[in-house]
Amino acid sequence: MREKTQLDLHLSPAITSLSELAKAEDECTRCPLYQHATQAVPGEGRRSSHLMLVGEQPGDKEDLAGKPFVGPAGRVLDRALEDAGIPRTEVFVTNAVKHFKHEMRGKRRLHKRPNAYEIERCKIWLDVERALVKPVAIVALGATAARSLLGRSVTISKLRGQTLHLADGTAAFVTIHPSWLLRIEDEADKEREYKNLVADLRPAAKVLAKKAA
Ligand code: URA
Repeated sequence: MREKTQLDLHLSPAITSLSELAKAEDECTRCPLYQHATQAVPGEGRRSSHLMLVGEQPGDKEDLAGKPFVGPAGRVLDRALEDAGIPRTEVFVTNAVKHFKHEMRGKRRLHKRPNAYEIERCKIWLDVERALVKPVAIVALGATAARSLLGRSVTISKLRGQTLHLADGTAAFVTIHPSWLLRIEDEADKEREYKNLVADLRPAAKVLAKKAA
């Protein structure tokens, strides 16, 4: 039988609030990523949010600020949410992995994709967030979030546009990660992909509107 660690003692059902959760995440040593990050970046938003957005992991700016999606990818996300008719204040925004994984290139901290082990070890925090917030729908932004939520490696292009259902029945939508748009050089391609992202967010906007009605 697996030995109980100190951290297991922090976990649900012992965690009953988002602030307790943020503290437990910040104390997390379940994988090595905590060693080089400034802090864990907890999810942000109201506990009563009906919609949850899940990104990959904090970037450089998020690691320093302690808040999700406040850097360049966050600006793309904010614009897409606005164009899809989703007020950011109405959603709970979080990440599949709570610590910033990076490598040093000179003085710059370059993002590194979390691996399957790190995603799996961090999933417990996303599970507790889901248990506390109880969103009606979740949007996975990119492959890391989709992998964490669906428990398997997926191809975004095959799943986008579909309404999926997670094991507990929560509706889920899958789309690209906003940072992908930052890497597209051709302006026409970038605009087309941006419109596709907004289109992928529209079903989630409908869920919110239905809840508000
Ligand atoms: N990318 C993410 O996936 N999450 C953030 O919080 C910032 C950038």
